[in-house]
Amino acid sequence: MVDDNLFKSRISLYRYKGFIFPGEIILSGILQELPKFQFRENDVIVASFPKSGTTWVQEIVYMLTHNLEKSDDSSEVLETRFPYLEYPYPGIKSIAKQKGQRHIKTHLPATILPPSFVSSGAKLIYITRNPKDTIVSYWHFVRLLSTVSFIGSFREFLQLFLSDKVPYGPFYDHLRTYFDLQKTQNVLIITYEDLKENPIQYYLQVPVTDSEAFDVAVATTFRSMSENKSVNYEHWKDIGFANKNEGKFLRKGVVGDWKNYFTPEMLKDFESWRIKNEPDEICKFKNNL
Ligand code: A3P
Repeated sequence: MVDDNLFKSRISLYRYKGFIFPGEIILSGILQELPKFQFRENDVIVASFPKSGTTWVQEIVYMLTHNLEKSDDSSEVLETRFPYLEYPYPGIKSIAKQKGQRHIKTHLPATILPPSFVSSGAKLIYITRNPKDTIVSYWHFVRLLSTVSFIGSFREFLQLFLSDKVPYGPFYDHLRTYFDLQKTQNVLIITYEDLKENPIQYYLQVPVTDSEAFDVAVATTFRSMSENKSVNYEHWKDIGFANKNEGKFLRKGVVGDWKNYFTPEMLKDFESWRIKNEPDEICKFKNNL
């Protein structure tokens, strides 16, 4: 177990195969059972480090693979349409219930994905984001989640992040596992910063006209998704997953919000961490990250 006092929250953190996980994932035994999970050829997986734009990609993928059908308040919530592989709720059971093509979200590093992925031919999209914006988004998120209820300052969260003590960290090791996977598998790696350009349709081989692509983009803007109950996670406040006195899951949805949080001193700490840990492959995305 990682020293949980450091995390200033109700959550216990565990180290497993080089990465940090919340106790609820380790103690439920799900991770230990996952190697048996069988991916199928037409599964679509959206993978990411938390707070990188996962929800956004999930909704785009869902539309592209459902005849561009737009979800609305009466649609099933995204967690059921696109379940979270390693999380107890609604988890693996709802993956088993999916009919036809399955849609699976995961925050697992590629080294912990069920091994059947490699032979399955399933498609996987990994989204990454400028880590400074990810850190800001993550800090708000750990305050929002009632199971975590983080009470530390942004500075304290940043120090935890930079010392690799947040769930799914270390950040760059996570990214590196997907760069490695991409060397042998047909995996699409995209950035939050580039997502508006939407290369996903080509990877999924969904033929859409420019005007249809425009419709998908309109339906998945930050504003549209914020107002759509099936994707905005506002129901978490009703079921006790989110603290009612905190902000929203779809919080701000912009590039560069880190500038409102990082002091020059924090930026210096961040830069020395980045220089030490950043994978070489990142240069592909350099201008956007
Ligand atoms: P912010 O906290 O910076 O607003 P994830 O889905 O991986 O948890 O990532 C959540 C982040 O993606 C949040 O970032 C959220 O607002 C942002 N996001 C979700 N949907 C978005 C959209 N349609 N457009 C832009 N950003 C979006």
